[in-house]
Amino acid sequence: TTVEWEAESYDMGGHDTYMHKEIHEQVDAVDRVLRGRIDDRFSTVRLGGLNLDAREARGVRRVKILGCGSAYHTGLIGAQLIEELARIPADAEPASEFRYRNPVVDPDTLYIAVSQSGETYDTLAAVQELKRKGARVLGVVNVVGSAIARETDGGVYVHAGPEVCVVSTKCFTNTAVAFALLALHLGRIRDLSVADGKRIIAGLRKLPEQIAEVLSGEEEIKKLAAEYANAKSMIFVGRVRGYPVAREASLKLKEVSYVHAEAYPASELKHGPLALIEPEVPTVAVLPDDDLLEKNRATLEEIKARSGRILAVAHREQEKADHTIVVPRNEVELDPILMGIPLQLLAYHTALALGRDIDKPRNLAKSVTVE
Ligand code: AGP
Repeated sequence: TTVEWEAESYDMGGHDTYMHKEIHEQVDAVDRVLRGRIDDRFSTVRLGGLNLDAREARGVRRVKILGCGSAYHTGLIGAQLIEELARIPADAEPASEFRYRNPVVDPDTLYIAVSQSGETYDTLAAVQELKRKGARVLGVVNVVGSAIARETDGGVYVHAGPEVCVVSTKCFTNTAVAFALLALHLGRIRDLSVADGKRIIAGLRKLPEQIAEVLSGEEEIKKLAAEYANAKSMIFVGRVRGYPVAREASLKLKEVSYVHAEAYPASELKHGPLALIEPEVPTVAVLPDDDLLEKNRATLEEIKARSGRILAVAHREQEKADHTIVVPRNEVELDPILMGIPLQLLAYHTALALGRDIDKPRNLAKSVTVE
């Protein structure tokens, strides 16, 4: 069945661009993806459309997540969440690569296709190839009744509401939350304790308020964007939970501002990209306060020693950085969800400062429904 979104959701609501509107809608959007799904009695979540019973969920030996662009990046976050909370080996791959390489399709692997539109051809083709080979494929999709939603065996709707801007923001965040729900659900069927289930649920419930807190720092981020807008190129780095955030922020900046950007795992810098560092090539470092913070700080020192400028996104002020955007703390597993949000604003204000066509970046379409 197709549920049409109401016409008023396309109203600009006083914002100058859909991108700005959609960034600010995240407080309500995250509330929506959580609504009606939390089960406090068993410290888990209920996902009505999953079509995967407990016995089947226990039989899953691997998880493989497929998507393109930002959807692929949410898959990287999803894979980490599933490994951490459910202890099932999981990874993500661009759907376009997967479909072209005659993949080994394994009956004990759960495949998950991720897509905002549900119409991206590469992702749909990967789903069809998997189905043809007898695999079980779930969808994590925003548009209800879309092609990918119809062709998968079940899944989780993202409930971000209509996303009009070509550049994905609220759907990215909601998809990451949907993966947290799925990971929690799989975890609680397997070995995740009641205490950990409660801890993650409490963290999820805090998200809408914390997103509002991040968005209230917009003026400061706007000033930072003006300061970094003339960069020749920007490097985004993070380790483990910070890395998918860095990748997505780099894509966001490229798409909307046309500033060249590259993302690397922080640990890879010394294997080559350090050669790029100079004052005109600033680094954005994603540094959650987790067990890798000290390692990340050492990376900042390496960048500083090569006269690089640093903008950090962290849970507390970083002395080695030139500027820090401080985000509120949550449970470490959920860090990628909040840490991406100030970087959406950074991309937005960089594009605004450079006078770009924010809702319709050159050369791009909202969904790529062709080969
Ligand atoms: C996101 O900002 C991009 N415009 C793009 O990477 C997008 O995420 C990708 O094309 C996949 O689209 P989908 O989620 O609709 O499948």
